[in-house]
Amino acid sequence: MKKIQISPSILSADFSQLGVEIKRLEEGGADMIHVDVMDGHFVPNLTIGPPVIKALRKQCDLKFDVHLMISPVHKYIESYADAGADIITIHPEATDNLEASILKIRELNKKVGVSLNPESKIDLIKGFLDKIDLILIMSVNPGFGGQKFMPEVLEKIKELKKIQNNNNLDFDIEIDGGINFDNCKDAIEAGANILVSGTTIFKSNNGDIKKNINLLKLK
Ligand code: DX5
Ligand code: ZN
Repeated sequence: MKKIQISPSILSADFSQLGVEIKRLEEGGADMIHVDVMDGHFVPNLTIGPPVIKALRKQCDLKFDVHLMISPVHKYIESYADAGADIITIHPEATDNLEASILKIRELNKKVGVSLNPESKIDLIKGFLDKIDLILIMSVNPGFGGQKFMPEVLEKIKELKKIQNNNNLDFDIEIDGGINFDNCKDAIEAGANILVSGTTIFKSNNGDIKKNINLLKLK
């Protein structure tokens, strides 16, 4: 059984002091930092890019779990690797050659993540499951924090878990979007071992990050 990890999304952080915020996450027991990169094209929102990630890199030793909601993604992979990403997660719909993009991330010695939107089927990535380190299951439509959790995606996680066990594969299953204290147990029981959370971690219990992270870990 994989250790349950929490990857707080800085999309819900105070953008005027991101350096301080990621330090708070580190002190609060985060296992990694979920960095939502949005280009206003693949998703209808625009956030941060390589220069900001490069600046944040110096502030924190935790792994940067970089979620690229950008397209076309292939030509930008290297700049996120150079900026300090440790895990680079892409959307299959954002590249015209998923295999080449996976290989590119691998060549740069980064962990490879592939993300499935709520309506995207596992078939989209079936042929690559032995080549990726992490599958990011979206439980909201990408673009914004604070959205409502879509429980139907839990079936997809259960199916992935079965495929993983039947084929002796070892990828992490990360769930992202609307994760809170009411649904985190269902997500873990379905088979997710990394939980992304922005709103719940930064806004619940008067912003007590340590308490919120532990509650999501069912501690
Ligand atoms: C949405 C992002 C998520 C989001 C999670 O496109 O990929 O990571 O920030 O935020 P919450 O936990 O507030 O849904
Ligand atoms: Zn994300």
